[in-house]
Amino acid sequence: MSNRKLIVGNWKMNGSLAGNAALIGDLLAGIGQPACDVAVCPPAVYLAQLQALLAGSAIALGAQNVSMHEGGAYTGDVSAAMLRELGVRYAIVGHSERRQYQAESDVHVALKAKLALAAGITPIVCVGETAQERQAGLTDFIVKRQLSAVIHLVGPCVSEIVVAYEPVWAIGTGQTATPEQAQAVHAVLRAQIRAATEHAARVRILYGGSMNADNAVQLLAQPDINGGLIGGASLKAPDFLKILAACASQ
Ligand code: 13P
Repeated sequence: MSNRKLIVGNWKMNGSLAGNAALIGDLLAGIGQPACDVAVCPPAVYLAQLQALLAGSAIALGAQNVSMHEGGAYTGDVSAAMLRELGVRYAIVGHSERRQYQAESDVHVALKAKLALAAGITPIVCVGETAQERQAGLTDFIVKRQLSAVIHLVGPCVSEIVVAYEPVWAIGTGQTATPEQAQAVHAVLRAQIRAATEHAARVRILYGGSMNADNAVQLLAQPDINGGLIGGASLKAPDFLKILAACASQ
């Protein structure tokens, strides 16, 4: 485990065989020796392509989702063991887009995190409040509820997960949480993890939501912000490389 920051690109449902090769080519040409850990999460159909493109590089492979079942009659699902076989190191679980569009519950997310851990994959557990919940003063309550489902299931193994705070109102909107707003929630999450494990300091809590080359330095300077989960800006090599470079100034 390291205290290095972690920057993860979530490509969401974007990409093509040719486009992926070009993007990875540009990233590898510019990445040098990054001052942080780096991963990209392509759509599942491209994991094998990316495994080959990233072999021996400084960029790790991540998945955007993992099944909550171990295997069997679950049409369309991809298991943690299958991901592991393709060299996947991280799996995003509980992204707000899946909670919203695929009706994923806190319990589903916790099962996914547990199966990922069992397969040797680090789950990146996403939590975050909507604009209405923030306005109602429910931010801490919501993120703690989402994380507590995972802690309840994995217990002290929570020290092996990555958490991503992604305020729903900041995702894809260009509206970023201020460094102070983000830090306040990260501190709440850190305290919650501290109650479950003595290794809370080493759990990386990423910020996600319109993070870009311009705001990365200030966000990453916050004491409890240990990296970023990047959507839109991870699809453009120059922007993603600038965010990686922001880690060097920390
Ligand atoms: P954007 O960076 O496009 O706002 O997306 C954030 C996100 O959802 C990463 O998982």
